[in-house]
Amino acid sequence: MSKKIFIKTFGCQMNEYDSNRIFDTVKEIGFKKTNIIDDANCYLLNTCHIRDKAKEKVYHEIGRVKQTFKSKKKPLVIVAGCVAQAENEQMLKREPYIDIVIGPQSYHNINYKIEEFLEKQKKIDETEFEANLKFDYLNKFENSSSKVSSFLTIQEGCDKFCHFCVVPYTRGPEYSRSFDEIIKEAKILAKNGVKEITLLGQNVNAYNYENYKLSDLILEIEKINEIKRIRYTTSHPKDMTDELIDVYGISKKLMPLVHLPLQSGSNKMLKLMNRNHNIQDYLNIYKKLVNINPMIKFSSDFIIAYPGEDENDFNRTLELIKKLRFVNSFSFIFSPRPGTIASKLKTIDNKISLKRLQIIQKALFNNQINMNKSLENKIVDVLVENKNKKDNKFFGRTEYMTSTIFDANDEDVGKIISIKIISSNQNTLFGKKVHKSKLKVA
Ligand code: SAM
Ligand code: SF4
Ligand code: F3S
Repeated sequence: MSKKIFIKTFGCQMNEYDSNRIFDTVKEIGFKKTNIIDDANCYLLNTCHIRDKAKEKVYHEIGRVKQTFKSKKKPLVIVAGCVAQAENEQMLKREPYIDIVIGPQSYHNINYKIEEFLEKQKKIDETEFEANLKFDYLNKFENSSSKVSSFLTIQEGCDKFCHFCVVPYTRGPEYSRSFDEIIKEAKILAKNGVKEITLLGQNVNAYNYENYKLSDLILEIEKINEIKRIRYTTSHPKDMTDELIDVYGISKKLMPLVHLPLQSGSNKMLKLMNRNHNIQDYLNIYKKLVNINPMIKFSSDFIIAYPGEDENDFNRTLELIKKLRFVNSFSFIFSPRPGTIASKLKTIDNKISLKRLQIIQKALFNNQINMNKSLENKIVDVLVENKNKKDNKFFGRTEYMTSTIFDANDEDVGKIISIKIISSNQNTLFGKKVHKSKLKVA
Protein backbone atom coordinates (compact mmCIF):
# COMPACT_ATOMS: atom_id res chain seq x y z
CA MET A 1 0.00 0.00 0.00
CA SER A 2 1.34 3.46 -0.83
CA LYS A 3 2.33 5.66 2.08
CA LYS A 4 0.59 9.02 2.24
CA ILE A 5 1.17 11.71 4.83
CA PHE A 6 -1.16 14.59 5.72
CA ILE A 7 0.59 17.40 7.60
CA LYS A 8 -1.27 20.10 9.53
CA THR A 9 0.77 23.01 10.85
CA PHE A 10 0.00 25.49 13.64
CA GLY A 11 2.26 28.29 14.91
CA CYS A 12 5.13 30.36 13.61
CA GLN A 13 6.99 30.40 10.31
CA MET A 14 9.58 28.05 11.76
CA ASN A 15 6.92 25.39 12.16
CA GLU A 16 6.02 25.91 8.52
CA TYR A 17 9.68 25.46 7.55
CA ASP A 18 9.93 22.39 9.80
CA SER A 19 6.83 20.79 8.28
CA ASN A 20 8.37 21.15 4.81
CA ARG A 21 11.66 19.68 6.00
CA ILE A 22 9.86 16.80 7.75
CA PHE A 23 8.26 16.01 4.42
CA ASP A 24 11.64 16.20 2.63
CA THR A 25 12.79 13.57 5.15
CA VAL A 26 9.85 11.13 5.16
CA LYS A 27 9.92 11.15 1.34
CA GLU A 28 13.07 9.05 1.72
CA ILE A 29 11.06 6.21 3.27
CA GLY A 30 8.41 6.34 0.59
CA PHE A 31 5.85 8.88 1.81
CA LYS A 32 3.94 11.05 -0.63
CA LYS A 33 2.14 14.21 0.50
CA THR A 34 -1.64 14.38 0.39
CA ASN A 35 -3.91 17.36 0.98
CA ILE A 36 -6.91 15.11 1.51
CA ILE A 37 -7.02 13.88 5.08
CA ASP A 38 -9.14 10.77 4.32
CA ASP A 39 -6.49 9.58 1.87
CA ALA A 40 -3.70 9.64 4.45
CA ASN A 41 -2.32 6.67 6.34
CA CYS A 42 -0.08 8.97 8.36
CA TYR A 43 -1.38 12.12 10.06
CA LEU A 44 1.19 14.59 11.45
CA LEU A 45 0.18 17.58 13.56
CA ASN A 46 2.91 20.20 14.01
CA THR A 47 1.93 22.14 17.12
CA CYS A 48 2.51 25.54 18.75
CA HIS A 49 2.62 26.24 22.50
CA ILE A 50 3.00 30.02 22.53
CA ARG A 51 -0.45 31.13 23.74
CA ASP A 52 -3.93 30.15 24.80
CA LYS A 53 -5.13 26.64 25.26
CA ALA A 54 -2.55 25.14 22.90
CA LYS A 55 -2.74 21.73 24.55
CA GLU A 56 -6.53 21.55 24.33
CA LYS A 57 -6.41 22.56 20.69
CA VAL A 58 -4.23 19.51 19.99
CA TYR A 59 -6.63 17.09 21.69
CA HIS A 60 -9.51 18.73 19.88
CA GLU A 61 -7.74 18.30 16.56
CA ILE A 62 -6.94 14.63 17.27
CA GLY A 63 -10.62 14.14 18.19
CA ARG A 64 -11.53 15.35 14.70
CA VAL A 65 -9.05 12.96 13.11
CA LYS A 66 -10.58 10.11 15.12
CA GLN A 67 -13.99 11.11 13.82
CA THR A 68 -12.74 11.21 10.21
CA PHE A 69 -11.29 7.70 10.49
CA LYS A 70 -14.17 6.27 12.56
CA SER A 71 -15.08 3.66 10.00
CA LYS A 72 -11.64 3.31 8.42
CA LYS A 73 -8.23 1.93 9.37
CA LYS A 74 -6.57 4.23 11.89
CA PRO A 75 -3.67 6.25 10.44
CA LEU A 76 -0.28 6.50 12.10
CA VAL A 77 -0.68 9.62 14.29
CA ILE A 78 2.35 11.79 15.02
CA VAL A 79 2.33 14.96 17.15
CA ALA A 80 5.36 17.16 16.49
CA GLY A 81 6.35 20.70 17.48
CA CYS A 82 6.37 22.71 20.67
CA VAL A 83 3.37 21.15 22.47
CA ALA A 84 4.84 17.71 21.79
CA GLN A 85 8.09 18.85 23.40
CA ALA A 86 6.33 20.28 26.46
CA GLU A 87 3.68 17.63 27.03
CA ASN A 88 5.33 14.49 25.66
CA GLU A 89 4.62 11.65 28.12
CA GLN A 90 1.32 13.08 29.38
CA MET A 91 0.11 13.32 25.83
CA LEU A 92 0.68 9.65 25.10
CA LYS A 93 -1.11 8.75 28.34
CA ARG A 94 -4.09 11.02 27.81
CA GLU A 95 -4.73 10.26 24.14
CA PRO A 96 -4.00 6.65 23.12
CA TYR A 97 -4.85 7.55 19.51
CA ILE A 98 -1.43 9.33 19.34
CA ASP A 99 1.39 6.95 18.35
CA ILE A 100 4.50 9.13 18.30
CA VAL A 101 5.37 12.46 19.93
CA ILE A 102 8.45 14.12 18.54
CA GLY A 103 9.98 17.43 19.66
CA PRO A 104 11.37 20.11 17.31
CA GLN A 105 14.99 19.11 17.89
CA SER A 106 14.46 15.45 17.08
CA TYR A 107 13.21 15.53 13.50
CA HIS A 108 16.40 13.83 12.31
CA ASN A 109 15.07 10.67 13.99
CA ILE A 110 11.61 10.75 12.44
CA ASN A 111 12.14 8.10 9.72
CA TYR A 112 13.78 5.74 12.16
CA LYS A 113 11.00 6.30 14.73
CA ILE A 114 8.22 5.74 12.17
CA GLU A 115 9.83 2.46 11.09
CA GLU A 116 10.34 1.43 14.70
CA PHE A 117 6.68 2.08 15.47
CA LEU A 118 5.44 0.24 12.40
CA GLU A 119 7.54 -2.77 13.39
CA LYS A 120 6.90 -2.88 17.16
CA GLN A 121 3.58 -1.00 17.50
CA LYS A 122 4.92 0.56 20.70
CA LYS A 123 4.25 4.26 21.55
CA ILE A 124 7.25 6.54 21.04
CA ASP A 125 8.33 9.69 22.94
CA GLU A 126 11.24 11.40 21.17
CA THR A 127 11.97 14.77 22.75
CA GLU A 128 15.74 15.23 23.25
CA PHE A 129 17.46 18.54 22.43
CA GLU A 130 19.98 17.73 19.69
CA ALA A 131 19.86 20.67 17.29
CA ASN A 132 23.33 19.97 15.88
CA LEU A 133 22.44 16.36 15.03
CA LYS A 134 19.15 17.50 13.52
CA PHE A 135 20.72 19.98 11.12
CA ASP A 136 23.62 17.62 10.24
CA TYR A 137 20.99 15.09 9.21
CA LEU A 138 18.62 17.49 7.43
CA ASN A 139 21.52 18.92 5.41
CA LYS A 140 21.59 15.59 3.55
CA PHE A 141 18.14 16.20 2.06
CA GLU A 142 17.61 19.04 -0.36
CA ASN A 143 15.02 21.60 0.68
CA SER A 144 12.33 21.02 -1.94
CA SER A 145 10.43 24.24 -1.29
CA SER A 146 9.70 26.03 -4.54
CA LYS A 147 7.28 28.70 -3.35
CA VAL A 148 8.17 32.14 -4.73
CA SER A 149 8.63 33.25 -1.12
CA SER A 150 10.22 30.58 1.10
CA PHE A 151 11.66 30.25 4.59
CA LEU A 152 15.17 29.23 5.56
CA THR A 153 15.96 28.48 9.22
CA ILE A 154 19.41 29.75 10.19
CA GLN A 155 19.15 29.75 13.98
CA GLU A 156 17.01 27.97 16.49
CA GLY A 157 16.32 28.10 20.22
CA CYS A 158 16.68 30.88 22.74
CA ASP A 159 18.80 31.68 25.82
CA LYS A 160 16.99 34.90 26.74
CA PHE A 161 14.22 33.55 28.97
CA CYS A 162 11.76 36.43 28.79
CA HIS A 163 9.49 35.75 31.74
CA PHE A 164 6.37 35.17 29.64
CA CYS A 165 7.82 32.92 26.97
CA VAL A 166 7.80 29.16 26.55
CA VAL A 167 10.21 29.02 23.59
CA PRO A 168 13.45 28.41 25.55
CA TYR A 169 11.74 25.35 27.05
CA THR A 170 10.34 23.99 23.78
CA ARG A 171 13.10 24.85 21.31
CA GLY A 172 16.06 24.54 23.69
CA PRO A 173 19.27 26.59 23.77
CA GLU A 174 20.41 28.92 20.98
CA TYR A 175 21.97 27.11 18.06
CA SER A 176 23.31 28.62 14.82
CA ARG A 177 23.61 26.54 11.65
CA SER A 178 26.79 26.43 9.58
CA PHE A 179 27.25 29.45 7.30
CA ASP A 180 28.18 27.28 4.30
CA GLU A 181 25.19 24.97 4.74
CA ILE A 182 22.83 27.96 4.82
CA ILE A 183 24.31 29.41 1.63
CA LYS A 184 24.11 25.99 0.00
CA GLU A 185 20.43 25.74 0.97
CA ALA A 186 19.75 29.29 -0.31
CA LYS A 187 21.27 28.30 -3.68
CA ILE A 188 19.07 25.18 -3.81
CA LEU A 189 16.01 27.35 -3.11
CA ALA A 190 17.08 29.71 -5.90
CA LYS A 191 17.45 26.71 -8.25
CA ASN A 192 13.90 25.61 -7.26
CA GLY A 193 12.52 28.98 -8.42
CA VAL A 194 12.38 30.80 -5.06
CA LYS A 195 12.73 34.60 -5.40
CA GLU A 196 12.33 35.77 -1.79
CA ILE A 197 14.02 34.20 1.21
CA THR A 198 12.98 34.90 4.79
CA LEU A 199 15.75 33.87 7.17
CA LEU A 200 14.27 32.41 10.34
CA GLY A 201 15.28 32.08 13.95
CA GLN A 202 13.65 32.52 17.34
CA ASN A 203 16.43 35.07 17.76
CA VAL A 204 17.49 35.40 14.19
CA ASN A 205 19.81 38.35 14.78
CA ALA A 206 21.65 36.43 17.51
CA TYR A 207 22.97 34.23 14.66
CA ASN A 208 26.66 33.55 15.28
CA TYR A 209 28.55 30.78 13.53
CA GLU A 210 32.35 30.92 13.79
CA ASN A 211 31.98 34.71 13.93
CA TYR A 212 29.77 34.93 10.86
CA LYS A 213 26.76 37.11 11.74
CA LEU A 214 23.34 37.70 10.22
CA SER A 215 24.77 40.71 8.35
CA ASP A 216 27.34 38.42 6.63
CA LEU A 217 24.63 35.97 5.64
CA ILE A 218 22.45 38.69 4.11
CA LEU A 219 25.33 40.07 2.06
CA GLU A 220 26.29 36.58 0.83
CA ILE A 221 22.72 35.62 -0.12
CA GLU A 222 22.46 38.97 -1.88
CA LYS A 223 25.03 37.64 -4.40
CA ILE A 224 22.64 34.91 -5.59
CA ASN A 225 21.21 36.40 -8.77
CA GLU A 226 17.83 34.67 -8.75
CA ILE A 227 17.05 35.84 -5.20
CA LYS A 228 15.43 39.26 -5.44
CA ARG A 229 14.29 39.92 -1.87
CA ILE A 230 15.67 39.06 1.58
CA ARG A 231 13.85 39.29 4.92
CA TYR A 232 14.56 37.94 8.40
CA THR A 233 12.47 37.26 11.48
CA THR A 234 12.23 37.34 14.49
CA SER A 235 14.85 39.64 15.87
CA HIS A 236 15.47 40.94 19.37
CA PRO A 237 16.39 44.60 20.07
CA LYS A 238 19.35 43.45 22.18
CA ASP A 239 21.01 41.82 19.15
CA MET A 240 20.39 44.68 16.71
CA THR A 241 24.08 45.40 16.10
CA ASP A 242 25.53 48.33 14.15
CA GLU A 243 26.83 45.85 11.53
CA LEU A 244 23.28 44.67 10.92
CA ILE A 245 21.91 48.21 10.87
CA ASP A 246 24.61 49.22 8.34
CA VAL A 247 23.52 46.44 5.97
CA TYR A 248 20.37 48.50 5.30
CA GLY A 249 22.63 51.09 3.72
CA ILE A 250 24.52 48.56 1.57
CA SER A 251 22.05 45.86 0.57
CA LYS A 252 19.88 46.23 -2.51
CA LYS A 253 17.74 43.23 -1.63
CA LEU A 254 17.07 43.55 2.12
CA MET A 255 13.46 44.73 2.49
CA PRO A 256 12.79 48.03 4.32
CA LEU A 257 10.34 46.54 6.85
CA VAL A 258 12.07 45.83 10.18
CA HIS A 259 10.14 43.43 12.39
CA LEU A 260 11.50 44.19 15.84
CA PRO A 261 9.23 43.15 18.73
CA LEU A 262 8.92 45.77 21.45
CA GLN A 263 6.25 44.03 23.60
CA SER A 264 5.61 47.14 25.72
CA GLY A 265 6.21 50.89 25.62
CA SER A 266 6.97 51.03 29.35
CA ASN A 267 10.44 50.55 30.84
CA LYS A 268 8.86 49.13 33.99
CA MET A 269 7.12 46.43 31.95
CA LEU A 270 10.21 45.62 29.86
CA LYS A 271 12.05 45.03 33.12
CA LEU A 272 9.29 42.85 34.56
CA MET A 273 9.27 40.86 31.32
CA ASN A 274 13.08 40.41 31.49
CA ARG A 275 13.56 41.89 28.02
CA ASN A 276 17.02 43.26 28.87
CA HIS A 277 16.70 46.54 26.99
CA ASN A 278 14.84 49.79 27.53
CA ILE A 279 12.74 52.13 25.40
CA GLN A 280 15.69 54.46 24.74
CA ASP A 281 17.69 51.53 23.28
CA TYR A 282 14.77 50.79 20.97
CA LEU A 283 14.43 54.43 19.92
CA ASN A 284 18.17 54.59 19.20
CA ILE A 285 17.86 51.61 16.83
CA TYR A 286 14.84 53.25 15.22
CA LYS A 287 16.70 56.53 14.67
CA LYS A 288 19.81 54.88 13.26
CA LEU A 289 17.79 52.84 10.78
CA VAL A 290 15.59 55.70 9.65
CA ASN A 291 18.72 57.84 9.20
CA ILE A 292 20.19 55.22 6.89
CA ASN A 293 16.96 54.85 4.94
CA PRO A 294 13.98 57.14 5.64
CA MET A 295 11.70 54.67 3.81
CA ILE A 296 12.21 52.04 6.54
CA LYS A 297 9.09 51.12 8.51
CA PHE A 298 8.79 49.09 11.68
CA SER A 299 6.56 46.24 12.69
CA SER A 300 6.34 44.75 16.14
CA ASP A 301 4.73 42.30 18.57
CA PHE A 302 2.99 43.62 21.70
CA ILE A 303 1.91 41.80 24.84
CA ILE A 304 -1.05 43.54 26.45
CA ALA A 305 -2.02 43.26 30.14
CA TYR A 306 1.15 41.53 31.28
CA PRO A 307 0.99 41.18 35.10
CA GLY A 308 1.81 44.55 36.67
CA GLU A 309 0.72 46.68 33.68
CA ASP A 310 -1.20 49.74 34.90
CA GLU A 311 -2.99 52.45 32.89
CA ASN A 312 0.18 54.52 32.70
CA ASP A 313 2.25 51.62 31.27
CA PHE A 314 -0.51 50.84 28.83
CA ASN A 315 -0.71 54.46 27.65
CA ARG A 316 3.03 54.49 27.00
CA THR A 317 2.62 51.53 24.65
CA LEU A 318 -0.23 53.30 22.90
CA GLU A 319 1.83 56.52 22.53
CA LEU A 320 4.74 54.67 20.96
CA ILE A 321 2.48 52.83 18.53
CA LYS A 322 1.21 56.20 17.36
CA LYS A 323 4.64 57.87 17.37
CA LEU A 324 6.61 55.16 15.54
CA ARG A 325 3.64 54.27 13.29
CA PHE A 326 4.16 50.53 13.44
CA VAL A 327 2.63 48.65 10.52
CA ASN A 328 1.93 44.94 9.95
CA SER A 329 2.13 44.29 13.70
CA PHE A 330 0.75 41.72 16.15
CA SER A 331 -0.76 42.21 19.59
CA PHE A 332 -1.79 39.56 22.09
CA ILE A 333 -3.25 39.48 25.58
CA PHE A 334 -0.77 37.91 27.98
CA SER A 335 -1.33 34.19 28.24
CA PRO A 336 0.29 32.37 31.19
CA ARG A 337 2.47 29.54 29.89
CA PRO A 338 3.22 26.52 32.06
CA GLY A 339 6.73 26.48 33.48
CA THR A 340 7.51 30.16 32.85
CA ILE A 341 8.20 32.69 35.62
CA ALA A 342 5.18 34.81 34.61
CA SER A 343 2.82 31.86 34.95
CA LYS A 344 2.94 32.35 38.73
CA LEU A 345 2.02 36.05 38.60
CA LYS A 346 -1.39 37.54 39.26
CA THR A 347 -3.17 38.16 35.96
CA ILE A 348 -5.10 41.31 35.06
CA ASP A 349 -8.89 41.22 34.97
CA ASN A 350 -10.20 39.81 31.67
CA LYS A 351 -12.44 42.75 30.84
CA ILE A 352 -9.63 45.27 31.34
CA SER A 353 -7.26 43.13 29.25
CA LEU A 354 -9.74 42.88 26.42
CA LYS A 355 -10.49 46.59 26.47
CA ARG A 356 -6.77 47.41 26.33
CA LEU A 357 -6.26 44.98 23.46
CA GLN A 358 -9.08 46.58 21.49
CA ILE A 359 -7.57 50.05 21.95
CA ILE A 360 -4.12 48.86 20.89
CA GLN A 361 -5.47 47.00 17.88
CA LYS A 362 -7.47 50.02 16.81
CA ALA A 363 -4.29 52.14 16.87
CA LEU A 364 -2.36 49.48 14.93
CA PHE A 365 -5.18 49.11 12.41
CA ASN A 366 -5.27 52.89 11.97
CA ASN A 367 -1.57 52.92 11.11
CA GLN A 368 -2.17 50.17 8.60
CA ILE A 369 -5.22 51.83 7.06
CA ASN A 370 -3.36 55.14 6.76
CA MET A 371 -0.37 53.53 5.09
CA ASN A 372 -2.59 51.62 2.66
CA LYS A 373 -4.70 54.69 1.88
CA SER A 374 -1.58 56.76 1.19
CA LEU A 375 -0.67 54.29 -1.56
CA GLU A 376 -3.89 54.69 -3.52
CA ASN A 377 -3.20 56.03 -7.02
CA LYS A 378 0.51 55.35 -6.51
CA ILE A 379 2.67 52.67 -8.08
CA VAL A 380 4.29 50.01 -5.90
CA ASP A 381 6.65 47.12 -6.51
CA VAL A 382 5.03 43.75 -5.87
CA LEU A 383 6.59 40.29 -5.96
CA VAL A 384 3.96 38.10 -7.61
CA GLU A 385 3.46 34.91 -5.57
CA ASN A 386 0.50 33.11 -7.15
CA LYS A 387 -2.74 33.20 -9.06
CA ASN A 388 -6.07 32.71 -7.37
CA LYS A 389 -7.86 30.05 -9.42
CA LYS A 390 -11.31 31.25 -8.32
CA ASP A 391 -11.23 34.77 -9.75
CA ASN A 392 -8.04 34.68 -11.87
CA LYS A 393 -6.59 37.54 -9.82
CA PHE A 394 -2.96 37.49 -8.76
CA PHE A 395 -1.52 37.74 -5.26
CA GLY A 396 1.75 39.29 -4.16
CA ARG A 397 3.34 41.45 -1.48
CA THR A 398 4.86 44.92 -1.39
CA GLU A 399 8.26 45.56 0.13
CA TYR A 400 6.39 46.16 3.42
CA MET A 401 4.71 42.74 3.25
CA THR A 402 1.27 44.18 2.50
CA SER A 403 -0.95 41.70 0.67
CA THR A 404 -1.84 42.94 -2.80
CA ILE A 405 -4.43 41.60 -5.23
CA PHE A 406 -4.28 42.63 -8.86
CA ASP A 407 -4.73 41.78 -12.51
CA ALA A 408 -1.61 40.47 -14.22
CA ASN A 409 -0.44 37.61 -16.47
CA ASP A 410 0.64 34.02 -15.75
CA GLU A 411 4.23 34.79 -16.77
CA ASP A 412 4.42 37.47 -14.04
CA VAL A 413 4.47 34.87 -11.23
CA GLY A 414 7.90 35.05 -9.60
CA LYS A 415 8.62 38.54 -10.94
CA ILE A 416 8.63 41.94 -9.27
CA ILE A 417 6.19 44.07 -11.20
CA SER A 418 4.73 47.57 -10.88
CA ILE A 419 1.16 47.74 -9.62
CA LYS A 420 -0.98 50.85 -9.62
CA ILE A 421 -3.03 50.79 -6.42
CA ILE A 422 -6.67 51.57 -7.06
CA SER A 423 -8.23 50.91 -3.66
CA SER A 424 -7.35 49.48 -0.27
CA ASN A 425 -8.71 48.25 3.01
CA GLN A 426 -7.04 47.54 6.34
CA ASN A 427 -5.19 44.43 5.20
CA THR A 428 -5.05 44.52 1.44
CA LEU A 429 -4.18 46.70 -1.53
CA PHE A 430 -6.04 46.25 -4.82
CA GLY A 431 -4.64 47.31 -8.17
CA LYS A 432 -3.53 46.56 -11.69
CA LYS A 433 -0.26 46.00 -13.46
CA VAL A 434 1.35 48.97 -15.16
CA HIS A 435 4.42 49.04 -17.34
CA LYS A 436 6.41 51.93 -15.98
CA SER A 437 7.31 52.56 -12.33
CA LYS A 438 8.13 56.26 -12.59
CA LEU A 439 6.18 57.01 -9.43
CA LYS A 440 7.59 54.19 -7.29
CA VAL A 441 6.94 54.88 -3.61
CA ALA A 442 6.83 51.51 -1.85
N1 SAM B 1 11.87 36.04 19.82
C1 SAM B 1 10.88 37.00 19.60
C2 SAM B 1 11.13 38.21 20.52
O1 SAM B 1 11.94 38.14 21.39
O2 SAM B 1 10.50 39.20 20.39
C3 SAM B 1 9.48 36.47 19.86
C4 SAM B 1 9.11 35.15 19.41
S1 SAM B 1 7.52 34.61 19.99
C5 SAM B 1 7.51 33.14 19.11
C6 SAM B 1 6.37 35.61 19.11
C7 SAM B 1 5.53 36.55 19.95
O3 SAM B 1 4.60 35.85 20.72
C8 SAM B 1 6.29 37.38 20.97
O4 SAM B 1 6.93 38.46 20.41
C9 SAM B 1 5.21 37.78 21.94
O5 SAM B 1 4.63 39.02 21.58
C10 SAM B 1 4.19 36.67 21.79
N2 SAM B 1 4.16 35.86 23.03
C11 SAM B 1 5.10 35.04 23.50
N3 SAM B 1 4.72 34.51 24.69
C12 SAM B 1 3.51 35.02 24.96
C13 SAM B 1 2.60 34.87 26.06
N4 SAM B 1 2.89 34.11 27.09
N5 SAM B 1 1.44 35.55 26.01
C14 SAM B 1 1.12 36.35 24.96
N6 SAM B 1 1.95 36.53 23.91
C15 SAM B 1 3.12 35.87 23.91
FE1 SF4 C 1 10.77 34.09 23.78
FE2 SF4 C 1 11.83 35.82 22.05
FE3 SF4 C 1 12.13 36.17 24.67
FE4 SF4 C 1 13.39 34.18 23.48
S1 SF4 C 1 13.72 36.38 23.16
S2 SF4 C 1 12.33 34.06 25.42
S3 SF4 C 1 11.90 33.58 21.92
S4 SF4 C 1 10.22 36.23 23.49
FE1 F3S D 1 4.85 28.30 18.63
FE2 F3S D 1 7.02 26.94 19.03
FE3 F3S D 1 6.90 28.73 17.08
S1 F3S D 1 5.68 27.70 20.59
S2 F3S D 1 5.53 30.24 17.93
S3 F3S D 1 5.74 26.87 17.21
S4 F3S D 1 8.64 28.30 18.38
